[in-house]
Amino acid sequence: MNHKIENKKQRCQSLKVQTITYSGTRDFVHVYLDPPIWDYVPGQFVMFRPGSWSNDPVWPRPFSICEKTDDALRLFIQVVGRGTKLISCLRPGEDVDIWGPLGNGFSLKNDESVLILAGGMGIAPFVGLCKTHKNPGNINLLFGHRAPLSSYPYDELPENMSKEAMQQKSMEDLNEFQLVLKQKIQDFASKGRILACGPSSFLRAIQKYCLEYKADAWLSLENKMACGVGACLGCVARTTDDEYVQTCTCVPVFSADKVFL
Ligand SMILES: Cc1cc2nc3c(=O)[nH]c(=O)nc-3n(C[C@H](O)[C@H](O)[C@H](O)COP(=O)(O)OP(=O)(O)OC[C@H]3O[C@@H](n4cnc5c(N)ncnc54)[C@H](O)[C@@H]3O)c2cc1C
Ligand code: FES
Repeated sequence: MNHKIENKKQRCQSLKVQTITYSGTRDFVHVYLDPPIWDYVPGQFVMFRPGSWSNDPVWPRPFSICEKTDDALRLFIQVVGRGTKLISCLRPGEDVDIWGPLGNGFSLKNDESVLILAGGMGIAPFVGLCKTHKNPGNINLLFGHRAPLSSYPYDELPENMSKEAMQQKSMEDLNEFQLVLKQKIQDFASKGRILACGPSSFLRAIQKYCLEYKADAWLSLENKMACGVGACLGCVARTTDDEYVQTCTCVPVFSADKVFL
């Protein structure tokens, strides 16, 4: 099977930073850039490389498109290492090379119910999805997170969608969250589509329950990426057809029954 995505909108554009804002601490950063010329599907991502990086760091960094409006492209980034630290220190007016929109994105109909399962920074691609959805009443979101809720763009999600957030500070919290997750998937399996994004342990648990309850579920993988253009093979995932596919150019949103996690 050919997984390669034909995306004629993909391009590399230099965009200027408009503003950088912080949620709670300086570890959670909203980056607003001048709007690119393309439109996107929620779940797609970009490769991000500031012009000031010159030859160091070498590789761009991948980030989900959090939101795109007529005024700005917005990314929501957690500072976890050197690249994201440098990104958090960018200043308005600096140039950033943005390669995108990449990946297949989520497939969703406005008139179908959807259960969104977001773990931590996995909330990023769902911000634009929820805010542009024609029928927010059809959305149910369960959000699991470690940092305080105020670190995430949770409050800005539409009021008329159903949403629940659970913070995990201990093993007990985590166990309780797993039970709620399982119950939600069981209850929802015959009602509509499930979309999920988050850390791999979170996706693995979701995959297990979705297979158990035969749910129509789609998982957005965040494999480590270097080139973002299918050249380095750093991001491959193994499918249940026993193929190795580059998640940067061929997915990264997989049907839950089609990928090994
Ligand atoms: C398709 C995709 C979408 C993503 N969307 C977002 C997003 O919207 N917001 C966001 O904050 N992050 C997102 N990430 C993760 C983000 O790309 C990494 O956190 C970032 O590249 C780390 O860069 P760094 O130089 O700061 O970290 P490094 O110094 O390279 O590494 C620091 C730590 O982060 C870990 N790390 C590096 N890359 C990843 C990764 N891909 N996934 C998980 N851990 C990683 C490393 O193992 C290490 O422990 C996404 C990743 C992918 C592949
Ligand atoms: S990141 Fe290089 S092949 Fe996918």
